[in-house]
Amino acid sequence: MTITLVSILLIVIFSFLFFKSIRKWNTWLYLGSAILSIVSFTQETTIINMGYLGLSFFIVVMFVTLLDKSEIKKRLMGVRAELAVIGSIFALTHGLKFIVFSIDFSFFWEAPLYFYIGIASVVVMLPLFITSFMIIRKKIKGKTWKKLHQLSYVFYVLVGCHLILIQNSRLAFYGVIFGGYGVMKCLDLYKKHTQAQPKNTKLTHAN
Ligand code: HEM
Repeated sequence: MTITLVSILLIVIFSFLFFKSIRKWNTWLYLGSAILSIVSFTQETTIINMGYLGLSFFIVVMFVTLLDKSEIKKRLMGVRAELAVIGSIFALTHGLKFIVFSIDFSFFWEAPLYFYIGIASVVVMLPLFITSFMIIRKKIKGKTWKKLHQLSYVFYVLVGCHLILIQNSRLAFYGVIFGGYGVMKCLDLYKKHTQAQPKNTKLTHAN
């Protein structure tokens, strides 16, 4: 929990301070993350191959949309795509590490449910990851891209289930993070829906 919280704090501070450089040098950052991931893959346990760093990036990506209008929201939203891509690279490394581990120790077909939910989350994450690169995003219609990226909610639910079903000492922490996000997202949608109501009424009257 401490590792995740400290990582989240550092990601927020770095993104706030260096948002312009992160956007400018994003390809180099992806490359650096990929190199770090390859190194981490060869090690026994690191915060990358254990899943903590990928999760921390995604927690920032999830919660930033819920912040009120502010300078911090503006800066973090500006690098949200970059944070999601880096988070995906680290999450993929973690997933692959455990898949290889399960094959090496012959328990791939007899793993606990959370293992398969982890795999499902990565399957959902892959199209989101690939279409987050600007070069590919440019080739997709805006509406189609937005529709596809609604899948990120399915990804969040799967990651939440993956972590909660592990049922370790961090169960309450994951419950608060993912349960809290669910409640806050619903409240946010409700607020947006009720704020949009008067506009619709006006339109109906005008018609
Ligand atoms: C192929 C996909 C995945 C597989 C096979 C997988 C497998 C696993 C396994 C077996 C564990 C338990 C390790 C233990 O016993 O301590 C675990 C833990 C973890 N996973 Fe995954 N995972 C996958 C995807 C993900 C994704 C997409 C995320 C987050 C974005 C994630 C985040 C984590 C975290 C943070 C932990 C550590 C939980 C803790 O110790 O509190 N995993 N994963």
